[in-house]
Amino acid sequence: MRILAIETSCDETALALLDAQGGLKAQKFKILKNIVSSQTAIHAHWGGVVPNLAKREHLKNLPIIFRKILANSKFQILNSKQIRNPKSKIPNIDLLAVTVGPGLEPALWTGVNFAKEVYKKLATYNRQPKTKFIGVNHLEGHLYSFLLAQKTANPKSKILKSKSLFPAIALIVSGGHTILLLMKSMTKWKKLGETRDDAVGEAFDKVARMLNLPYPGGPQIEKLAKRGDSDAIPFPRPMIKYKNYDFSFSGLKTSVLYYLRDNPKTKKEDVAASFQKAASDVLVAKTSRAVKEFKAGSILLSGGVAANKTLRKILQAEARSLNVKFFVPPMKFNTDNAVMIAVAAYIQYLRNSSAGHRRKNLAIHAQGNLSL
Ligand code: KG4
Ligand code: ZN
Repeated sequence: MRILAIETSCDETALALLDAQGGLKAQKFKILKNIVSSQTAIHAHWGGVVPNLAKREHLKNLPIIFRKILANSKFQILNSKQIRNPKSKIPNIDLLAVTVGPGLEPALWTGVNFAKEVYKKLATYNRQPKTKFIGVNHLEGHLYSFLLAQKTANPKSKILKSKSLFPAIALIVSGGHTILLLMKSMTKWKKLGETRDDAVGEAFDKVARMLNLPYPGGPQIEKLAKRGDSDAIPFPRPMIKYKNYDFSFSGLKTSVLYYLRDNPKTKKEDVAASFQKAASDVLVAKTSRAVKEFKAGSILLSGGVAANKTLRKILQAEARSLNVKFFVPPMKFNTDNAVMIAVAAYIQYLRNSSAGHRRKNLAIHAQGNLSL
């Protein structure tokens, strides 16, 4: 199944072209094209993402990236002359997927509207009426990105053995969400807990701002922390002892603020390292407790903050000591991208077909507050 996916929920304009096969039991993906155009340099000036600027940039970038996706390459189909010709046929697409939420509504709409245009072209002019068009939950994109943990391009790579994987505990950590899930199978999950205030990525971004580091703050904190002592400052580990799976990061953020106010000469490196360790400790402790309670076979880590090497390392060590598998996608698939949206679209398509669902293709609309 050839999938074209579009992602514009925040400040990355991303498109991907994938071939997927294997069904719900043995999925395999071959990434043909993967383009992410990041707007961070533009938003950094404002210290965070400005929705209308994001919209403007998506509108500008989408057609450019779309042309690149179709451009001649070893997998592709159109040469530059054909691309410039509006009558050129778009290569066959079996499934067209677009992120519908959660995210910034003006940004989401640009992707949704663009996808509708592509769909119309496919369905009418190109006579591809069989193309399926589906809206994808961005969080499902992160969730299923663990399927990219295997070597995607190598057809001989081992397929994940579904049986020993589930039940799995999935931790999604991004700029907008911090969610712990119990995955009973590839298509069934239950939310165990989530943040009651700030998302962990948001806390990284806000602490970075207190340290005068540019947006996005996560990678900056990680860089600074390398030269700091993570035991230097005993920041709180909010809710770590609570017998539930919810999180809270706003108190941790505030204690960093007060610490900096009261200790203006402190080493920034130590603040970054101690904050990063405090946040990671809470995430790891709750994930670990969930693994034990639900006798899970694996831990799945995803979302932008999963790019943090300290968090990856501590969680991987914990998985080893719990004797469970650990999956985290390669770095480039942690932060927002369209490959993960294509992967989630494939699973959603299989899930809906097995449940006999039929969606009206053009009834897709942006849903900024969509949850899992
Ligand atoms: O998943 P993502 O790209 O977008 C959302 O869906 O929110 O996540 C972005 C978040 C930002 O808050 C960013 O600071 C954080 O992920 N992030 C990191 C790292 N790389 C990105 N946080 C900690 N360490 C990193 N290396
Ligand atoms: Zn994301």
